[in-house]
Amino acid sequence: MPSLTTTLSLVDTDPAELAVDAIVVGLHSSSGDGELSGPLLAPGAESVAAAFDGKLAPTLKLLGASGGACEVTKLATLGTITAPVIAAVGLGAVPDDAGVPAETMRRAVAAVVRSLAGTARIALALPLPDGADGGDPATLRAVAEGALLGGYRFAGYKTKPQPGRRDPVKSVALLVPDAADKHAKAELKRAAIVAAAVARTRDWVNTAPNELRPPDFATAVSAVATSAGLDVEVLDEKALKKGGYGGVLAVGMGSSAPPRLVILRYAPKGAKKHVALVGKGITFDTGGYAIKPAQGMWEMKSDMAGAAAVASTMVAIAALKPKIAVTAYLPMAENMISGTAYRPGDVVTMYGGKRVEVLNPDAEGRMILADAIVRAAEDDPDYLVETSTLTGGQVISLGKKISGVMGDEAFIARVAAAGDRVGEPAWPMPLPDDVRKGMDSDVADISQINAGMDRAGHMLQGGVFLREFVADGLPWAHIDIAGPSYHSGEATGYWTKGGTAIPVRLLLDLVDDIATNG
Ligand code: BES
Ligand code: MN
Ligand code: ZN
Repeated sequence: MPSLTTTLSLVDTDPAELAVDAIVVGLHSSSGDGELSGPLLAPGAESVAAAFDGKLAPTLKLLGASGGACEVTKLATLGTITAPVIAAVGLGAVPDDAGVPAETMRRAVAAVVRSLAGTARIALALPLPDGADGGDPATLRAVAEGALLGGYRFAGYKTKPQPGRRDPVKSVALLVPDAADKHAKAELKRAAIVAAAVARTRDWVNTAPNELRPPDFATAVSAVATSAGLDVEVLDEKALKKGGYGGVLAVGMGSSAPPRLVILRYAPKGAKKHVALVGKGITFDTGGYAIKPAQGMWEMKSDMAGAAAVASTMVAIAALKPKIAVTAYLPMAENMISGTAYRPGDVVTMYGGKRVEVLNPDAEGRMILADAIVRAAEDDPDYLVETSTLTGGQVISLGKKISGVMGDEAFIARVAAAGDRVGEPAWPMPLPDDVRKGMDSDVADISQINAGMDRAGHMLQGGVFLREFVADGLPWAHIDIAGPSYHSGEATGYWTKGGTAIPVRLLLDLVDDIATNG
């Protein structure tokens, strides 16, 4: 069963008369007195409210609804409107003129769609601005993405059907002022492409690591990239040896499943700019001879989240067709322990010739990424964006929701702005010179880690190390997604347990920004 089965459509007829299984209305919280106390219906639900003779909001209040963001309250309509059920979803406080924040809508819509699993057809009577003027599409985009992702479900490996498990909603109709509006239709098409990219990333991250070792991952990425029309090149262990990819080989040859470097190219005619995307593809990270504690080690199946996000972003780009060339470099390896694994004290000659003294085999990400970053520069990109589950330090400093972004100052501001626009925040972090000083090696060009600093600020160490491999003058950004790429808790908003697909939507927005503004 595919993990995304929900479909979207537009309607502009009276929601009170729609023959669907449930109508979704929005609720704002209110702190007013008297008549204004209790939740307030959001725009879009007027005709539904009229059918209830003004009793809808008070009834929802009676049922405990407050209008708090993502709260869902259901009500049987008993013949007042055509649909048998109303699901009221909280949208938070009454917004100012700018309307409900797009991210609030994305989360709320996903939450209510998920809560309606088991029903086939629903319609959303929510405050959606008129897209006819081609104005800011953020709200419609967010609602469409939220509706699709609310139906995301990883197939999993259970051998028996789960009793009580209800199928995701099959179809969601969005109530808009004009269902024939071409901007609105284009947003729906885009949302389907973006949600598919998110779902594919999550599926790869959620796949058991014994089923997705580097050769499997490379084959899977090649297959979808080829059918998307991308140009695909796969370097196997022989080609990596021949090419001198010492970092990828050092990490990858400790595993019986050898490493890969997958290169995906999108190069439309007339493209003026070229962006390189690099993603960390460690299909499992045991820590190697700096072995990780057993508790929680299973989450290291997500250590390829960067590569999964970049590969899926490329597939989406092939469908969205922005006027810009984009090339992806995906180093893939499994960090294992064996007689051929690399060890502390090893000196590795990286792609491009720099020598690195290995001090901690658990800092494997930077080893494979450095090779890929040097390789990327050979194709003369205008910008380089690398993303990886690089350090536990990211989780300590910024937590599980906010990525860290390091690199060229002006460019990382653009990356952060793209993240803000799509609800995938990334916070700029520094690359201090004293951290680099601590990485001087007695024997090689650079140490793999700053041994003297222990774990203090070690997200920055990762960035400082990677900077050494970025070509002079190339604007670059390193996005550390260690925390935000994987959600260990229960489903919330448009996130489900497991892979989140961060930063797919950030990357797509950034690529659009560069295609438009250079
Ligand atoms: N894959 C890990 C980082 C990570 C930690 C990702 C937690 C997601 C959640 C990475 O390879 C790693 O082990 N980093 C080390 C670096 C250290 C040895 C300098 C770390 O964070 O401890
Ligand atoms: Mn590691
Ligand atoms: Zn790792």
